[in-house]
Amino acid sequence: MIQNQIVTVIGHKGYGKTKLTELLALLKRRPTIIADPRYQYEPKPWRVHFGSVEQFRKWIHDRDNIATFYEYKFELVVQGVDPDSFEVLAWIVMKMKAITFLVDEVDMFAPPTMNNKKAFYHLIHYGRHNRIDIITTSRRPPNISRNLTAMTDLFFFSKIRENTDKKYMENYIGKEHAETAKRLERFHFLMIGEDLEKAQIISIPRKAAEAI
Ligand SMILES: Nc1ncnc2c1ncn2[C@@H]1O[C@H](COP(=O)(O)OP(=O)(O)OP(=O)(O)O)[C@@H](O)[C@H]1O
Ligand SMILES: [Mg+2]
Repeated sequence: MIQNQIVTVIGHKGYGKTKLTELLALLKRRPTIIADPRYQYEPKPWRVHFGSVEQFRKWIHDRDNIATFYEYKFELVVQGVDPDSFEVLAWIVMKMKAITFLVDEVDMFAPPTMNNKKAFYHLIHYGRHNRIDIITTSRRPPNISRNLTAMTDLFFFSKIRENTDKKYMENYIGKEHAETAKRLERFHFLMIGEDLEKAQIISIPRKAAEAI
């Protein structure tokens, strides 16, 4: 029985990764915490923004705030996260239940050298106990921990350009799918779950992308 889902979005710069995560997070209809190191998530009526992890920590510490967060399923956007403050953020997330944790530009926080002492390692491996869904983005597969890719339930790949990236992807998804990903248009993604046979190309229509 799946108790949580890990989604990894990988693709070229400016090809719509962050936008796709916004849609995926909304579709989950869960309280959501977004680690936004590059200030990519704009103000929306359903979002609360924090300038730092410390500011977020103080806010979430308040019982009324946390109750409101769960009841109204806000998106809490934590900006300016760096690797040290991400550690604090990820431990806070570990203590929560039935939420989505969205991490943009995950290479900053889960590089290939990530060890089992890191909070994010624990979230990847044990987040299912607390039903914590994880959504991440990265530009290049070699830049992220194999712990993350090995535990990923659903991948979205946009166009691959680098040959090294293609080789990496061939290992995950096979030669044929890697070939398909090489030919993808901008804003199109190859969606691949456990069953490689059921891979599909998807894209968010421009109007919908503008509305999110
Ligand atoms: N499906 C879409 N249709 C039209 N415009 C889109 C679509 N998806 C994203 N965009 C727009 O394209 C631009 C780049 O998208 P986005 O920031 O999501 O890309 P990215 O892959 O996250 O880029 P980066 O690697 O720089 O983080 C943004 O202005 C976004 O609003
Ligand atoms: Mg982005």
